[in-house]
Amino acid sequence: MGQSIKLTFENDLAFLEFDQPDSKVNVLTTPVLQEFHEIIRSLNQRPDLKGLLISSAKPDIFIAGADIKEIERITLEQDGAEKARAGQQVYNLLEKLPFPTMALINGACLGGGLELALACDWRLAGFGEKTKIGLPEVNLGVLPGFGGTIRLPRLTGLQKGLELIVSAKLLSPEAALRAGLVDGVVSVKLLREEGISFIRAKGKKRKKFKPPVKGLLNLLLDRTFIGRAIMLSLTKRSVFAATRGQYPAALLAAEVIAKNYASSLKAALEREAKAFGRLVITDISKNLVSLFFLSEKYKKEKWVEASPATVKKCAVLGAGVMGGGIAQLFSSYRIPVRMKDVNWTALGSGLSAAKKVYDGALKRRKIKPAQAMTGLALISPTLDYSGFANADLVVEAIVEDLAVKQSVFSEVSRIVKPGAILASNTSCLPIGAIASGTKDPSRVVGLHFFNPVHRMPLIEVIRSSQTSPEVVATMVDISRKLGKTPIVVKDSWGFLVNRLLITSLLEAADLLAEGVSFETIDKALLDFGLPMGAFWLLDEIGLDVGYKVAHLLEENLGKRMKVNAILKQVYEKKWLGKKVGKGFYLHKGKERKPNQEIYQLLQKKNLTLPDSEIVKRSIYRMLAEAVLCLDENVVRNAGDVDIGMIMGAGFPPFRGGLLRFGDTLDRAKLANELRALSDKMGAEKFEAFRPLLEFAKAGKKFYQE
Ligand code: NAI
Repeated sequence: MGQSIKLTFENDLAFLEFDQPDSKVNVLTTPVLQEFHEIIRSLNQRPDLKGLLISSAKPDIFIAGADIKEIERITLEQDGAEKARAGQQVYNLLEKLPFPTMALINGACLGGGLELALACDWRLAGFGEKTKIGLPEVNLGVLPGFGGTIRLPRLTGLQKGLELIVSAKLLSPEAALRAGLVDGVVSVKLLREEGISFIRAKGKKRKKFKPPVKGLLNLLLDRTFIGRAIMLSLTKRSVFAATRGQYPAALLAAEVIAKNYASSLKAALEREAKAFGRLVITDISKNLVSLFFLSEKYKKEKWVEASPATVKKCAVLGAGVMGGGIAQLFSSYRIPVRMKDVNWTALGSGLSAAKKVYDGALKRRKIKPAQAMTGLALISPTLDYSGFANADLVVEAIVEDLAVKQSVFSEVSRIVKPGAILASNTSCLPIGAIASGTKDPSRVVGLHFFNPVHRMPLIEVIRSSQTSPEVVATMVDISRKLGKTPIVVKDSWGFLVNRLLITSLLEAADLLAEGVSFETIDKALLDFGLPMGAFWLLDEIGLDVGYKVAHLLEENLGKRMKVNAILKQVYEKKWLGKKVGKGFYLHKGKERKPNQEIYQLLQKKNLTLPDSEIVKRSIYRMLAEAVLCLDENVVRNAGDVDIGMIMGAGFPPFRGGLLRFGDTLDRAKLANELRALSDKMGAEKFEAFRPLLEFAKAGKKFYQE
């Protein structure tokens, strides 16, 4: 018998407690599953028992899921299917035990952990933010393989089941109760007591499979062949619209769930196992799994040897797009914020931007009304520096102008208390230069949020040559407390993410100047998996900001960053993008159609290039710039770049990351392609690609595994 599960008896009830030694979490490794199997087999011989209650001894974790390292190692389809069958066999036995069973869910109950709970007759969940319930397998490019595609929809109904599995949504205990996934929600401390009463009250009663469905239409959708076919088709269509078919796991999961809904358990489990085997060996799944490990690593990365200070109070300078978002973020983590701008109109719009974020969270039931009210009340607007002397941290988000920022930093550094940290949200200006006139440049740092602040998961922490390690440690710590992933970047023009992103925007503009339509370019980039095309992104950022940053990079990084005449003309025409309703596209509400006037600015038109060439030029430019960032120690390694570009610029996760994708390209072929590009585009323009050619010629890889 292993040591991860404790079996005890009290009167006629059995208790099984997961407590994996030397681990903060319970994970269903093969040995743990075997141990569980043994116990269930022994309990199967005990018809005298009146019930089994399964719990976890780990605080805030029930079972985190299957062992992802084992999933990563599977390279053969039949091994994948076999792995699923092994788990299914254990859970089938659990389901068939001769007495009622119950899972006591005290925290995260994910993937294989939830599938275990679903094989029980009943489930009770503990109240609290740590209790998250769901099947997030499609995020790893696979589908639930231990019976989840069958047992979850049978509790929630097909529609909800499809939604939950395909979107990998994690539910709060209350939402899980509404969805029919759990049978009750109680205080975590009372789980065992309430579980015993519950199972005693139910007596011999076992799980009921058919979920209650309200209304005739829902009944028709859930219980008829045609209804289920309609639901499957709608789900696939919306998955396709959201992912452009780039995430096959979600599509296959939808199909398997819908077919399994009306199948015998045996046939359904086999269908699920085979689908798991098919998906688990794909490159997409391998990329998503390696990204999972990378992001777990960055959640804990110790960037500097220093202890962080606590940020209890914060001040924000500028109540614009970013200032309003930053103030909202701090307030949502119960940190009071003083927000300063130059007039009440600006402050009003900053406050209403913050309110809009709270309203959205309320609508999606992410927070309660009281939390929104308390959060908003923590943001206090001001036209002067009153309150700034109490702030532990000031975040500046005013206009992107070095001279203005220098003068404001110099002024603020004389108002704040000694030891306060001054952070700039600048998009590209070096922090050392911003700090030059301050009283203590060691307290100045970059804290680069991405737009929209509440949604983007990355923060770049920019460390100047003078920034103290303690300040960096504090920014890393506060970023994590705000729910973000920080990467620490060396002070330089454009830092990491914007520097790379701008190169791809400049390349798109060059392709446009060569005569390729901007709609074609955007579509090619979208089809590759980017969240938006280059011109759509420029419209979102605003041509004023985008042009300015690109121009500053050209001035300071050199000719390879050349901003072409079209961008300049569009900027000068004040077609600034979404904020003014007109840019490369005409914007009306959420609608967008191409601005045909752009074509009047072009000297060359109607050049047709294959999508693959458009994408290659964009990606190769970013790769070439990444080579330089690594050479210049802007970042430490390939992982920094991949986390930055996925979390900060939306580089498609299923490709594993910019540099992981770059490493899949055959070096000799890449060098040949680049040489061909060089012949076509001329020496000056090719300078932007040259670092990648040298890198490829030397046969180098970004990851040294
Ligand atoms: P914005 O133009 O929306 O807002 C700037 C605000 O600062 C305005 O309300 C202005 O009245 C105020 N302001 C100007 N001087 C001030 C002063 N001395 N004291 C207090 N308030 C002052 O600009 P946005 O877009 O919010 O950008 C702010 C900073 O954040 C810039 O450095 C920008 O490069 C950076 N950033 C912008 C992103 C974006 O997507 N917009 C993304 C990441 C960084």
